[in-house]
Amino acid sequence: MNRKQLIKKYIEYFKNKGHKEIPNASLIPANDPTVLFTTAGMHPLVPYLLGQKHPLGKRLVNVQKCIRTQDIDKVGDETHLTLFEMLGNWSLGDYWKKDAITFSFEFITKELKIPVDRLGITCFGGDKRVPQVPKDTEAAKIWLLLGIPKNRIALLEGGVLESKKNWWGPAGVTGPCGPDTEMFFWKAKTKPPEKFDPENKNWVEIWNNVLMQYEKDGSGYNEANQKNIDTGMGVERTAAVLNDLDDVYQTDSFLPLIKTIEKISGKKYKGNEKAMRIIADHVKASIFIIADGILPSNSERGYVLRRLIRRAIRYGRNIELKNFITNIAKPVFTIYDDYTFDKNKILKELEQEEKKFLETLEKGMIMFSKLIKEKKVLSGKDAFLLYQSYGFPIEIIKELADEKNISLDIKEFEAEEKKHQELSRTATEVFKSGLADASEETTRLHTATHLLNEALRKIMGEDVKQRGSNITPERLRFDFSFPRKLTEEEIKKVEQLVNDKIKQSLNVKREEILLEQAFKSGAQAEFGHKYPEKVSVYTISDPKEKKGWFSKEICTGPHVENTAEIGHFEIIKEEASAAGIRRIKAIVSNK
Ligand code: ALA
Repeated sequence: MNRKQLIKKYIEYFKNKGHKEIPNASLIPANDPTVLFTTAGMHPLVPYLLGQKHPLGKRLVNVQKCIRTQDIDKVGDETHLTLFEMLGNWSLGDYWKKDAITFSFEFITKELKIPVDRLGITCFGGDKRVPQVPKDTEAAKIWLLLGIPKNRIALLEGGVLESKKNWWGPAGVTGPCGPDTEMFFWKAKTKPPEKFDPENKNWVEIWNNVLMQYEKDGSGYNEANQKNIDTGMGVERTAAVLNDLDDVYQTDSFLPLIKTIEKISGKKYKGNEKAMRIIADHVKASIFIIADGILPSNSERGYVLRRLIRRAIRYGRNIELKNFITNIAKPVFTIYDDYTFDKNKILKELEQEEKKFLETLEKGMIMFSKLIKEKKVLSGKDAFLLYQSYGFPIEIIKELADEKNISLDIKEFEAEEKKHQELSRTATEVFKSGLADASEETTRLHTATHLLNEALRKIMGEDVKQRGSNITPERLRFDFSFPRKLTEEEIKKVEQLVNDKIKQSLNVKREEILLEQAFKSGAQAEFGHKYPEKVSVYTISDPKEKKGWFSKEICTGPHVENTAEIGHFEIIKEEASAAGIRRIKAIVSNK
């Protein structure tokens, strides 16, 4: 079964079960500046998972292109991809576990005709640290009744706080979340073992059913008012399984690309898998990112794109390819002829970026050889030179060092970065967190945003929660949950409070702490944002407040050191952003 047949089968199956097809959304999340890319089909559905009515009803289905940069280190293995297509079906407060699992079982075994004997299932096995959420014996029982043997159902424990192991969400620090149940396929040619062990790499995860049963708030986990189902099946992985292929790169989502790389390099895929996979994956992802309107640059998504293209070029060098990116771009257009691409624009951008990097790549490689000569460690200073003067993204430097068995002093590299402007410091963090400009203007606006957030809560009530933020050097834009338009008077009050806090010359302090600790300390966080285990918390102190501070937020910054640096704050617009969400635009000036 090829890619298109699989997608068609899935969508038709769920349409027959009363689902409506929703569009394959842009990789750039609409109205949500908190994540860089759409990473799952549920992203565009966040407001509806929270209870807003979806115009197409309570049962939805689609195929969604997704970008995941957090798996970048794994790309090159048999299953991980930067860009992939996700099949998904949703119940928005409609059917629940029994139907969701039955649909999955029926689709896999009847429609795709995967033998039950090759399936393994994981369910949520509880987490001692979070006793409010018991293990999901309900899901396990449903699988058992459908005919999955007991020893093929693994209840995995301990995943709630890390959002791993059969627990999903919340997307931010609060919001809908719940256990999930994952389906694995035994891919080896051998007979599958009787007992399912998800750690065995021959078991490949193909589908995840998230059972959004709870809502997390400051007090903990509570049963949600609206229980949702959110599922995600990987097109490439499932196609590999169905066609008995060893890796996703041999499915028709990749094969023409791999064949082209073989042809122009004169080398075989076998023996050069890692380089060819990374090239194919990164070039394809780059094409989709450009198609959705992003160009290579040194900030935000543009820097993700730049790094993908540069890493592909660097791996091209390993198999003696040069000036090759546009040639391997072409098969992508053929594979995905069900998408529309501005081919000329995409090819032009890829070509320009390749040209730019090739200008410094060779010189940088010579410099790299010089820097590591008779050494066991590449110093952070030297790594920084490669980064700044030769445009080598840090992961390329790390990989080059690894290949030569040289360690890299990453701490010193980071210290070196800190010494340089904020702009370059943030640029390397961007790949996994997503922040860009650090000019003086935006820095002032970042801190003003924290003051605004807290002022809104003080004046309009604690229910105000941040739902989005976007800052340019000219203005801040802040989205927050609130059910109605603010009155003139309320706007003035909020403005006044922010300006009072500016005039008080309050100190802004940054600390790095564990996410849970940050949450406990009362730090504000944004719904829809995925935070790492360790986060920066910015506190705006205020001796007049009972707690000793006015605002505390999890944020990557940058921020001013004292609120007096912000200048005069002014709200220039207050409008609706989405149902239940208001948007404020504001500026700061030196008046
Ligand atoms: N949102 C779920 C996932 O990404 C389905 O796995």
